[in-house]
Amino acid sequence: MRKISLLLLSALLLIGSTVKADEGMWIPMLLKKYNIEDMQKAGFKLTAEDIYDINQACLKDAVVGLGREGRPFRHFCTGELVSDQGLMITNHHCGYGAIQSHSTLEHDYLKDGFWAMSREEELANEGITASFLIRMADVTTKVLDGVTDDMKESDRQKLIKKHIKTIVEEAEKDTHYRASVKAYFNGNQYFMAVYEIFKDVRLVGAPPSAIGKFGGDTDNWMWPRHTGDFSMFRIYAGKDNKPASYSNDNVPLQPKQSFKISLKGVNQDDFTMVFGYPGTTTEYLTSYALKMMTEVDNPHKIKIRTKKLDLMRADMDASPMVRIQYSAKYAGVANSWKRWQGEIKGLNRLNAIEKKEALEKRFEEWANSTPELKKKYAGILAKMKTYYDQVTPLSLARDYAIEAGFRGAETVGLAGSFKTLSNLKKEDTDKVQPELDKLKKESAKFFKNFNLPTEKKLLAATLKMYSDNLSDEFLPEEIKNIKKKYKGDFEMFAEKAFAKSIFASQTKLDQFIDNYKVSQAKKLGKDPLFVLSNSISFFYGSKIAPDYNKIMDQIDKLQRTYMAGLMKMQPEKVFYPDANSTFRVHYGKVSGYKPRNAVTYAHYTTLEGIIEKDNPEIFDYDVPQKLRDLYDSKDFGDYVNAKGEMPVCFAATNHTTGGNSGSPVLNANGELIGLNFDRAWEGVMSDLMYDPEICRNVSLDIRYVLFIVDKFAGAGYLLDEMNIVK
Ligand code: ARG
Ligand code: ASP
Repeated sequence: MRKISLLLLSALLLIGSTVKADEGMWIPMLLKKYNIEDMQKAGFKLTAEDIYDINQACLKDAVVGLGREGRPFRHFCTGELVSDQGLMITNHHCGYGAIQSHSTLEHDYLKDGFWAMSREEELANEGITASFLIRMADVTTKVLDGVTDDMKESDRQKLIKKHIKTIVEEAEKDTHYRASVKAYFNGNQYFMAVYEIFKDVRLVGAPPSAIGKFGGDTDNWMWPRHTGDFSMFRIYAGKDNKPASYSNDNVPLQPKQSFKISLKGVNQDDFTMVFGYPGTTTEYLTSYALKMMTEVDNPHKIKIRTKKLDLMRADMDASPMVRIQYSAKYAGVANSWKRWQGEIKGLNRLNAIEKKEALEKRFEEWANSTPELKKKYAGILAKMKTYYDQVTPLSLARDYAIEAGFRGAETVGLAGSFKTLSNLKKEDTDKVQPELDKLKKESAKFFKNFNLPTEKKLLAATLKMYSDNLSDEFLPEEIKNIKKKYKGDFEMFAEKAFAKSIFASQTKLDQFIDNYKVSQAKKLGKDPLFVLSNSISFFYGSKIAPDYNKIMDQIDKLQRTYMAGLMKMQPEKVFYPDANSTFRVHYGKVSGYKPRNAVTYAHYTTLEGIIEKDNPEIFDYDVPQKLRDLYDSKDFGDYVNAKGEMPVCFAATNHTTGGNSGSPVLNANGELIGLNFDRAWEGVMSDLMYDPEICRNVSLDIRYVLFIVDKFAGAGYLLDEMNIVK
């Protein structure tokens, strides 16, 4: 007896020291080597090959990274195939731009929802791409061939770039695939991913925002949650089932694989797995980086955004028109603003800086333990600290240039986009008209969501913060001029600037564009908003960015060495690479948590909670009448849980981040049980440090999706093409 339990104990200890469940975003091709045993112990019933296999269809073939033409490898969200006719689900907030772009006052699909009742009614979306991962490969040896430790950093990067180009060309040769090589572990390893990228992705359906964005920014990053955050698309292909640009002749894609949908739902502690394209995490940063971020950069960025949000909110509350115009902008500004605040709290709660310092101390001791290690690793942390001390003021100046400068008032950004035009000379005449056409198109879009009084307030407030919070040495010339000329009265400046500027209205700007001749470039040079925008970018480009980038290059190099050292120091530990917008597998379990003293959260929410929040007076909580009726009549169909409740969302311990939105959430049998869309407030520091006690991803229960499509929208025909298992 005793012997067995000791054995068991040591086995458990061994597992504990190799792979820690919950934490981690794993590379699919390495699951077999590092994770599958752990996953199976946690309840997973399939094999590593069921997830990732390059010789036959497997689960990975039902997942897509969503990107944009021109930068398809920067996946902004994830989606999954749910039928053999190209039907794909992702989040409402991922499809938001597409839904908005098809909306007009007469057909407000954001407000009312949209359901294509036939293939003909599906709506094309220029520029959206959906990528399937075909295969990946470890290309580290090839990429780093000839690279040495004492090489100049710029030479190293040049050589790496050259090798990557060759690798990509070889992989793409004679195929219609696209390949991308990315750095892992801060440049200690390189993997190639080969994709098949589809370009005809059509909108099939979306619930009204009162469901898809229920709770809005109030509930964003929060648990308990009741958001029906989904939308549906269909991927189209040419007649040969290969990628093709949008055409009437295209046909629905027949994917290699699509997910079975399970109506079994979830219980506390059930195994869950998420597939997707997490964007960026930085788990291996030093204490110095964390300090700069949590004590300098983010508090200032939060302060600037708080001001912007207050101003927008006041105007949105006062006018329904402004609310429509600014709701997407508001959501954009609010999203990171809220996350940063949760992050700081979470890191403090974990004593993250002290933990990092303790690890660094251990690292130094280890680095000094043999002459060999000493040569490579000793002293790098002290150097790192010096660089962070140097870069901190530059980083802050950079934050202000971006947050309070280019993006302070959006008109500053608009003015900046006229820079290329202003540089065109007489001999460039053939380039002038295309540039004007482009600007005209862009500014028409811009003014659709523009309210002059709001912009004035934003400009005045952000410029004032810019000038109040930085010493003159870090201020662009024009901001110093304005400060002097208007004696610090930035409101007065904003008033005068907009009175004079061509960027104050679409009429003025169109007039300027329509009558533009190269000789008028001078006129731009006198426009106060153009001058301001120019001055910020000139100052940033000449006084901040060069030094900032130089130091960051040094830091990156040290971080690469530090990362290599950390892995060498802990040979028993299996490391997962930071997110870099490549395909990953996350696994964990369904679980509630304790957010604070005496409070425990359940692992799931139900329609009951939506009705509890219902308040027609509050925009974010205004429940559609039809949903109330369905609730009253308890018309939940097959979608109820064992208790007869209508489930909405659930929380789990999967370690996800931005980009994972829309990711399929699977059960132990590899069946679809939900869509990932967010994380819980108390645990958003998981991008920097994960804690299984409190870090939770938030998913939409697939049964709520089906319920909305079927009972609420009356689009049940879409369910016919799905493979639903009871
Ligand atoms: N927090 C989620 C994510 O990072 C959802 C954001 C969209 N929703 C919103 N209310 N702003 O993408
Ligand atoms: N909401 C995020 C996304 O859009 C997911 C997250 O950060 O947890 O990808």
